[in-house]
Amino acid sequence: MFRARAQTCMFFAIVHDRCTRVCPTRYSSFKIINSRTAFPDLTFHNIRFDTSYLMTKANRHRALVTGASAGIGAEFARQLAARGCDLVLTARRAECLQALASELRAAHAIAVDVIVDDLADPAAPVRIAAAATQDGRAVDVLVNNAGYGVPGRYDKVAWDVHARFMQVLVTAPLALCHLLLPSMRERGYGRIVNVASLAGLVPGTPGNTLYGPAKAFLVRVSQGLALENRACGIHVCALCPGFTHSEFHDVSQARELVSRLPRWMWMDADEVVRRGLDAVDRGRVVCVPGRVNRAIKVLADLLPDRAALAMVGRRAKDFRVRE
Ligand SMILES: NC(=O)c1ccc[n+]([C@@H]2O[C@H](COP(=O)([O-])OP(=O)(O)OC[C@H]3O[C@@H](n4cnc5c(N)ncnc54)[C@H](OP(=O)(O)O)[C@@H]3O)[C@@H](O)[C@H]2O)c1
Repeated sequence: MFRARAQTCMFFAIVHDRCTRVCPTRYSSFKIINSRTAFPDLTFHNIRFDTSYLMTKANRHRALVTGASAGIGAEFARQLAARGCDLVLTARRAECLQALASELRAAHAIAVDVIVDDLADPAAPVRIAAAATQDGRAVDVLVNNAGYGVPGRYDKVAWDVHARFMQVLVTAPLALCHLLLPSMRERGYGRIVNVASLAGLVPGTPGNTLYGPAKAFLVRVSQGLALENRACGIHVCALCPGFTHSEFHDVSQARELVSRLPRWMWMDADEVVRRGLDAVDRGRVVCVPGRVNRAIKVLADLLPDRAALAMVGRRAKDFRVRE
């Protein structure tokens, strides 16, 4: 009898654990309550799932997603909405953001704010953080996702283009972390996903020369922030996707080249995002989604530097516009 009760107890503890993992934001306050005692009479009828304050507005998490107008960022918005998060969406294209906001409000009965801004402007992170937190509202989840690639050889691309690129891919995400971390630490809860890339985990590549280094920088900073903030209930994760279906390769003018890559090298944004959200909730610091991408990373780690560099040099013409 005692054993059966203990097993039931374990079962619900596991269910609770799975709920929390699978749906962290939605179920973080999902409590299993034994209405009589803590242990002995644990049966179905005296367990109630206390959802009374689960869906109250005050209790919901709120997520800020940059680059939410397309691709991986829009998918982050969709999956966070499905997990019960209120959202703040930002990017430059107002119409795309508004359309997504309307879709998600209607589908999930959540609050969605839209902030139209250009992260290439050094003042944008302060503006975005101020707008997102006005009236004392919290940002519990930060997804630094906005990004793009600059085609061409390093010295042929104007310096101004490189400077804007570094502002969007490196400085802006770091500034947003810097602006939002203190309040996360105060509340003892935070989730930060920095969308980096597999390119940040392999040797430098010709063409769009700063892309890999910028993403490598983001990976290293995420590792440091994860260690600094873990004890305060904050998880930081660098998500490192490989080739993912989105508008990315149109913007970097590499669509024709990458369309020749085999299908098994590609992932859909929904799977990338699901793995990223699971990873950050579990406290994983670097997440490489997909078996093929993980194999590439392992190969890059195992090969001596010269061999890895030579391999990347040979393959770069398949996916980068170099001139
Ligand atoms: N797709 C891939 O194969 C792949 C692989 C590895 C890593 N990634 C990374 O994943 C992230 C998302 O890329 P994606 O594939 O989803 O590309 P995408 O479909 O082109 O989306 C990029 C997003 O970034 C926003 N953005 C670009 N420049 C911006 C700026 N100056 N200010 C504000 N927002 C800006 C865009 O919005 P607006 O144009 O409306 O501003 C858009 O919402 C990027 O960081 C990228 O480096 C992508």
